[in-house]
Amino acid sequence: MQIGSITLANNLFVAPMAGVTDRPFRMLCRQLGAGYAVSEMVTSQPHLYASLKTSRRANHEGEPGPIAVQIAGTEAAMMADAARYNIERGAQIIDINMGCPAKKVCNAWAGSALMQNEPLAVAIAEAVVQACLPYGVPVTLKMRTGWSTEHKNAIHLAKAFEGVGIQMLTVHGRTREQGYKGHAEYATVRAVKEAVAIPVVANGDITHSEKAKQVLQDTGADALMIGRAAQGKPWIFREIAHYLATGEHLPAPATQTVRQWLLDHLQEHYSLYGEHTGVRSARKHIGWYLKGIPGSETLRARINAQENCAEQWQTVADFLSALAQSHPIWPTQAIPATDMRPNALQEDCAPTADCATLAAV
Ligand SMILES: Cc1cc2nc3c(=O)[nH]c(=O)nc-3n(C[C@H](O)[C@H](O)[C@H](O)COP(=O)(O)O)c2cc1C
Repeated sequence: MQIGSITLANNLFVAPMAGVTDRPFRMLCRQLGAGYAVSEMVTSQPHLYASLKTSRRANHEGEPGPIAVQIAGTEAAMMADAARYNIERGAQIIDINMGCPAKKVCNAWAGSALMQNEPLAVAIAEAVVQACLPYGVPVTLKMRTGWSTEHKNAIHLAKAFEGVGIQMLTVHGRTREQGYKGHAEYATVRAVKEAVAIPVVANGDITHSEKAKQVLQDTGADALMIGRAAQGKPWIFREIAHYLATGEHLPAPATQTVRQWLLDHLQEHYSLYGEHTGVRSARKHIGWYLKGIPGSETLRARINAQENCAEQWQTVADFLSALAQSHPIWPTQAIPATDMRPNALQEDCAPTADCATLAAV
């Protein structure tokens, strides 16, 4: 799998998720089988570059390459500047966000809303490609199937994006109007794949190995991108990779192993965010890992009351040590397969809320 001249480890990608796929989580997903990870979107508003949130999002210390930065915005020249700015700070691939269902951002329509204004969408893509050309940095773009059921223009736009030099397209199988409701459809992703020669990545509702295999078959896509199903389960990538390679399911990991992954994840998380933000923002990750695990509801309540990273870390460590005694193998069966439906996953995320705060990023 190649993006421009860059070779990726495999064709299973972790989706950009604002507020989730920060550097510690991306690195863990890469360690556990993802071949590629795109950063959370960063703003193209220059006056926000120096904000703490943006600088955290632009932190790639120790991250294995290729470093891919996603940029979001509504003005071609500003997006081109943002691309240059991020390349000068280490980005090796620039991804343009036309997939986020945000409403108004900075008083203008951004993310997937841009799909409604085709000339502007293509002008942004072209300006970013031209800005990246002198650096030899490939530009990719993430979009949805269209604006609404009546306006599924992904195929038309895909050809235009390819024409201005975009080197890979990711398609989330929903329209902007859908937000995260309903189910992803893959026929449009297949049609995009058939319409262009550049690699196409299928995204949306890929929750387990069989589904991954099915989506690859149904779309003919070159790669898969997984978002919500990786929350609290970063080892999903190696499970899917194993299944695609062998047709066999990888056994569930030992509880001790998951304990170590989570505890290491927390340490990295605290060191990126610091005490105050770290203890709070780690709660959602802990909740995702432990969803459906016996006794986790009580633990969650305790953790939500804790305001100190060391105390939170120790509480999780003790809980998982006890769990390893009663359940030496990670009790994945505690999460019934029916709970892995996209709508069940949806409860856990607030993508629109996070996207809507882009102006403050
Ligand atoms: C919490 C959250 C934040 C997201 N943030 C972004 C983002 O910053 N950029 C983007 O292109 N998509 C973003 N998305 C969309 C995901 O990348 C992905 O397209 C979507 O979740 C569908 O894939 P899934 O069903 O595997 O989760 C976000 C989704 C979630 C749930």
